[in-house]
Amino acid sequence: MASMTINSVNFGTAKGVKFEYLGLKVHQNVTCVKPHSVKFAPRTLTVNAVEAHGDGPVKKMGKSDEGCEAAVVAGNVPEAPPVPPKPSAPAGTPLVIPLRLSKRPRRNRRSPVLRAAFQETSISPANLVYPLFIHEGEEDTPIGAMPGCYRLGWRHGLVEEVAKARDVGVNSIVLFPKVPDALKTSTGDEAYNDNGLVPRTIRLLKDKYPDLVIYTDVALDPYSSDGHDGIVREDGVIMNDETVHQLCKQAVSQARAGADVVSPSDMMDGRIGAIRAALDAEGFQHVSIMSYTAKYASSFYGPFREALDSNPRFGDKKTYQMNPANYREALIETHEDEAEGADILLVKPGLPYLDIIRLLRDNSSLPIAAYQVSGEYSMIKAGGVLKMIDEERVMMESLMCLRRAGADIILTYFALQAARCMCGEKR
Ligand code: PBG
Repeated sequence: MASMTINSVNFGTAKGVKFEYLGLKVHQNVTCVKPHSVKFAPRTLTVNAVEAHGDGPVKKMGKSDEGCEAAVVAGNVPEAPPVPPKPSAPAGTPLVIPLRLSKRPRRNRRSPVLRAAFQETSISPANLVYPLFIHEGEEDTPIGAMPGCYRLGWRHGLVEEVAKARDVGVNSIVLFPKVPDALKTSTGDEAYNDNGLVPRTIRLLKDKYPDLVIYTDVALDPYSSDGHDGIVREDGVIMNDETVHQLCKQAVSQARAGADVVSPSDMMDGRIGAIRAALDAEGFQHVSIMSYTAKYASSFYGPFREALDSNPRFGDKKTYQMNPANYREALIETHEDEAEGADILLVKPGLPYLDIIRLLRDNSSLPIAAYQVSGEYSMIKAGGVLKMIDEERVMMESLMCLRRAGADIILTYFALQAARCMCGEKR
């Protein structure tokens, strides 16, 4: 019996039983170590290949190598199974002359082992960032337009959700606050209150889970009485430089609380350079900036705005978010963000914008993030509930496609569900 021992499997920090990644069925019994766990000692993995024929190897007769060779030379060839008969085709199958093809790409797809060997893209829980909605309450409130998502109580439900995610190897989250209306103003000053919901939550999580990577959203909309990402002038114009001033204070406040990556999602011009300078001036050289480089004015954000009650009071976001019809413009934003010091470039939404993800991947050496937004999530959920699609398979396929397009990390509301699926846990 052939047996091989593997000491660790590079599947991120996934806790493991049986792996069944999309397009990659593991046939042998693979058990996987859970590296970040302190509770369990790493187990040794054993992969046992099952014998193809019979119930074990042929009995040895005690012959020497020379004896075996001499027998064959003398014409006493030992038996092996015959070539199996050609499988028959159904009655009525036309008899044809085989096509003369120099290439038959199906050859490399003909068995699970070959398909696994030639799989070009992979995904693991380490690639996922889990967006979480928080509020001041103690209970978790379901979000109607996003089945399975909740506004989590910052001290209760949130902590439990983070623990569940870590348990399956998702150790990165991004926080979105639901701010009480009474704290919203036209200049969004609550955004940099050091004791506001987000900084308080960061301190709590960092105290409990020091190695958790916390991304934050930098934009004024959850704090703005106008529901816009920037300060709105009397005539409806979104004021760029004044907004950037506020965003710098917001980013510094988040960094002070312990944020690892601040993520400006506002699309103001020049905010990356300004935030970098503000962070450095306050001693936060180690804090990264993930720029929403190509964020489009998309209708796929609808459910999110319901979740946070952050619909713009009037107008739309088209003077700062990009026109969905534009491609080259994403390159202008890319060059700006790179020059200003961004550490990660993000494309949003995800699946409808795969060409933009590929564009950034091919034009920058920085890590690329894709945001599978609320509308994308809700469509898959709805299709699954209506039994029109297989929710789990479509979920995994959509995430794999975002990776194939060039995304290193994916922000997705499916993070926990997908990671559980990757670890072989059934719902
Ligand atoms: C706002 C922000 C939005 C999202 C993330 N940050 C909404 C918007 O721009 O109106 C959307 C995320 C989603 O739809 O999942 N700064």
